[in-house]
Amino acid sequence: MTSMQHEPIQVSSIVYLSRTTRPFGPDDVVELADRAAEANELHGVTGYLTYSEPHFTQYIEGPETELLAVWDRIQNDARHKIVQSVGLGLAERRFKDWAMTLIDPMWHSAAGSIEAIHELLSAADNGMGPSSEIASSLRNLVSEVSVSS
Ligand SMILES: Cc1cc2nc3c(=O)[nH]c(=O)nc-3n(C[C@H](O)[C@H](O)[C@H](O)COP(=O)(O)O)c2cc1C
Repeated sequence: MTSMQHEPIQVSSIVYLSRTTRPFGPDDVVELADRAAEANELHGVTGYLTYSEPHFTQYIEGPETELLAVWDRIQNDARHKIVQSVGLGLAERRFKDWAMTLIDPMWHSAAGSIEAIHELLSAADNGMGPSSEIASSLRNLVSEVSVSS
């Protein structure tokens, strides 16, 4: 007899690197992440955010329509400017319990992966490497961040 298996829920995902357009203190970052989490919770969007002056990297995942609405808000926020973004396509949800978790890139156990994501997005901005390979590496790195969150 086969047991009932839950189909993994497929979501779309985006990872990006941005640069702040104004100073951000630690409290500002916490407040931003709290607000993002509240908004995301309403829309079934999950992910993580890191800040390392003057850059944010953020990973967001969710049902496509909701994800694109959130992405629109992120892009239109004048407090930062997107340096590079990569759509990672359909995936299983990786941050099931995190509407938006703020990760300290220095102290996180996947600090190396977070750093590698930043480096890859910076390199992609310089037009290095085929985008399909970059997306595949980014997918693996985001998985490493999620399992150690
Ligand atoms: C680095 C960064 C990350 C953001 N992440 C999210 C997010 O995950 N979800 C979201 O809805 N908005 C996100 N935003 C957008 C803003 O939080 C939001 O559009 C802004 O607070 C305006 O909200 P308001 O319309 O309630 O004033 C982000 C903005 C920045 C600068």
